[in-house]
Formats: sequence, C-alpha cells, structure tokens
Amino acid sequence: MNIKPRLNADGITIHTSEEFEGMRRSGALAAKILDMITDFIVPGVTTEALDTLIHDYMIDAGATPATLGYRGYTKSSCISLNHVVCHGIPSDKKLKDGDILNIDVTCILDGWFGDTSRMYICGKLSRKAERLIDITHTALMIGIDQVKPGNTFGDIGAAIQAYVEAQRCSVVRDFCGHGLGRVFHSAPNVVHFGRWGTGAVLEEGMFFTIEPMVNLGKPHTKILADDWTAVTKDKSLSAQFEHSIGVTSTGCEIFTNSLSNKFYPTWS
Ligand code: MF3
Ligand code: CO
Ligand code: CO
Repeated sequence: MNIKPRLNADGITIHTSEEFEGMRRSGALAAKILDMITDFIVPGVTTEALDTLIHDYMIDAGATPATLGYRGYTKSSCISLNHVVCHGIPSDKKLKDGDILNIDVTCILDGWFGDTSRMYICGKLSRKAERLIDITHTALMIGIDQVKPGNTFGDIGAAIQAYVEAQRCSVVRDFCGHGLGRVFHSAPNVVHFGRWGTGAVLEEGMFFTIEPMVNLGKPHTKILADDWTAVTKDKSLSAQFEHSIGVTSTGCEIFTNSLSNKFYPTWS
C-alpha cells in the first residue's frame, strides 16, 4: 500500500481530498448550530439555557460536543459576553439588552472536529459594538484571503494585525487558532499577528482554524478565578469570529460557513 506522509516537515498534518468530506460534514453541523441558536438570543435568557440547546441539538445530530470534559471543561459551548475575550462558561447569568456575545461550538462528527464561533447581539446594538463586530469579522475574512499554498502562516497574522491596528483596535496575543481534523488542537499555532513571509508555508491538505479576538482597548487579557474565563485587562469590549478551513490547490475551503441568512454581519 502506498502510504502518503501525513506530517510535513513542520509537523503539520496533510489531509487527503477524501478527508475534506469529513470536515465538510462536521463544519456544516457546527455552522447549523450557530444558525439555530440565533433566534434564542433575547434579553432574560441564561447562557446555560443556550448551552443546553446547543448540547441537545448536537447529540440529536449524532455528534459529540468536543468541549464537554475537555481539560475539565464541563459545557458544550463557550459563551463570552462583552469584555470576555473567550472561554466564557455558560451559567445562570441572564442576557440583557445591549449585550454582545460570542458563541463558540466544536462538534465531533464521525471523528472530525468542526470548530466555529460568531458574534450575536442581544437587543439594541451600540455604534461602538457594531463597529468592533464588523472589524473583527473583516479581520477573519482578510486572514482567510491569505490562505493558499505557498503563502505562510505569518502572512495570515500580518494581514489581520495590519487591518485591525489601522482601525485603532488591538489583536489579542494570548490565544490563537490551531490545526484540527481528527483532533481538536494540533500544530500549528495560528497567531493573529506577525510578520509577512515568516512561519510555516501553507500546503494543500492542511486543516486549521483562524479565530481572531479583537479588543476596542488594549490587547492584554487575564484569566478569572474559574481558570477559564479570559477577559480584557482594561475591561474594554472584545469580539471574535472563528472558521475551520482547509487549504486547497488554489486557496481554501471554509468548512463552517453559515447555511442560512442568519449570519451577522453579512459578508459579500
Ligand atoms: N472552541 C475553542 C477553540 O476555538 C476551544 C474551547 S476549549 C474549552 O479552540 F474547553 F474552553 F471549551
Ligand atoms: Co478553535
Ligand atoms: Co472554537
């Protein structure tokens, strides 16, 4: 049997075209869950109730929440409100008018990990929150635009950083995207800042996430006493979007695109 080398020289897994199909299915389910939850984002709902809906939907679809039991984490999603940067733990806290929140889900379907997050708005959206959300989503798409064989991981980070800082916002340094596939987190670390032309070279068959966190204030974060919740040190508002993608011969395929018109902001 002809066994292709699975790891490249940088220790990054190279997947076959058949393996794209597994990611397509798990990515589509993760996106569908983020579509499904949109109508439940209303003042008064608890983040725990949202997590339960996500959990049950995933199980009914024949998938498993990757975060459940992951390094001691006990929920099926991360829900990060306002100045929470990432890894907010669903709780009995109720959403209130004017909150912005990121919901991050990862499902395991037939062994493949689909990881995606987006921003939601509860009630009335302030101008500064709207601006932050738009900038963060554009930052993700600008990063994705760099993904093609021959470019480097540094190009992705440099493109995101240049755009975000030109908007007078900051890129979080303490968390990054990651390789994934049949595992949740693998090489490489996909950082959202950096220098053009540096880092590992992108190759067809790599699967990874890009998931920039952008703050209105300074980039610094701290972890709360629960050991998970990351917040901005200066309490400024933070936003994040995440896609799981695969490198193709000419560019990339996004596995976690929305399947409905419920995605905010719309991207053309
Ligand atoms: N889904 C997150 C990511 O984008 C990881 C969450 S791990 C958890 O990589 F344990 F906090 F849920
Ligand atoms: Co991720
Ligand atoms: Co995620």
